[in-house]
Amino acid sequence: MFENLSIPSSLIPDDPRFGVGPSLIPTEYVKRLSSTGVKLLGTSHRKPAVKNLVKEVQDGLIEYFELTDHDVILGNGGATFLWDMIGLGLTEKCSKHHVCGEFSNKWHAAHSKIPWIETCLEKVEYGQGLITSNSDKCDLIALTLNETSTGVQMKSVPANDDSTIICMDATSGAGQIECTHKNVDFYYFSPQKIFAGEGGLFIGFLSPKAKERALKIQQDEKRYIPTIMDWKLAIDNSKKNQTYNTPSVSNLFFINQQLKDMNKLGRAAINEMAQKKAKHIYDWAESKEYLSCFIKDDAYRSRSVATIDVDEKIPVSELTQKLRDENVIYDIDSYRKLGRNQFRISMFHNVSLENLEKLTQLLSHSIESTL
Ligand SMILES: Cc1ncc(COP(=O)(O)O)c(C=O)c1O
Repeated sequence: MFENLSIPSSLIPDDPRFGVGPSLIPTEYVKRLSSTGVKLLGTSHRKPAVKNLVKEVQDGLIEYFELTDHDVILGNGGATFLWDMIGLGLTEKCSKHHVCGEFSNKWHAAHSKIPWIETCLEKVEYGQGLITSNSDKCDLIALTLNETSTGVQMKSVPANDDSTIICMDATSGAGQIECTHKNVDFYYFSPQKIFAGEGGLFIGFLSPKAKERALKIQQDEKRYIPTIMDWKLAIDNSKKNQTYNTPSVSNLFFINQQLKDMNKLGRAAINEMAQKKAKHIYDWAESKEYLSCFIKDDAYRSRSVATIDVDEKIPVSELTQKLRDENVIYDIDSYRKLGRNQFRISMFHNVSLENLEKLTQLLSHSIESTL
């Protein structure tokens, strides 16, 4: 249907990367990394050059999120790794999960495989949001700030109490979707979304209460804690401005650049920019009869990942393939397991409103000129 599509040059964004994972890394950061020459890459992570970089990242996060009493821990493995680390080392007897997409589902599945803990499940049909809640039975609450697979964001954090640890996977929302993160005991994310990192790392903010829980479980000799999931080591290393084990230095470099840029603007301004971008995309979807928002309730519609359903008579995968082949737009396909005829579009901080405007005009042009 799109073989003969003509693409007006005025509609070509200046960066083709609209994927939700990983997100674009500004080419300027790559130039800056290159200019560090022999001073950083390939040097020891136990020596000042890399330790200072880790400290800058930690300080940048503390400033951005206005953290006061949380430890900032960093290690290899990403958010997927933390699902097991939380199940094995932060959950006493039972964790409660809120599932509204594939990532929250995988977190629940990871805990379900641990024989000595139980799980409770609140689950909705994909496309819907859900109300999160605490539970007397569970000692850990698992929340996903933004479901990257469906484009559902969370509306509220349940009340915290002394016996419950609230954990939040904030991977695709951290930085531009607000939540009461200071009430969350373990707020964590993989930084390859809004923080312009590459894959591989996890970043987590650990409250004193969560620290106490982790250290208590670790002292219980009956509990199995894999060598690579030692919470005490993660905490001790974070105090020394070190990652858990050998990090990707380029990744830390990119995240640090992004944090510096984001701290110049501040969280409030960045949230506002995210709102504007989301408004643009969702208004566009509502203005076209061949489009519709996958998430019907606006209160749950993500401000960082837009999911837009497309009329079945328009083959989305053919269009996205054509735009990729022309090097104009990359990676706006739906999450593969959802199997929907859908655009999934990143509105992460580095994706500019101007480029999103061009993207929506180009998609409308492509569809309308072939209908
Ligand atoms: C919400 C969410 N959680 C977890 C993950 C997994 O992250 P990683 O691949 O870094 O482990 C992703 C990846 O996109 C995600 O979007």
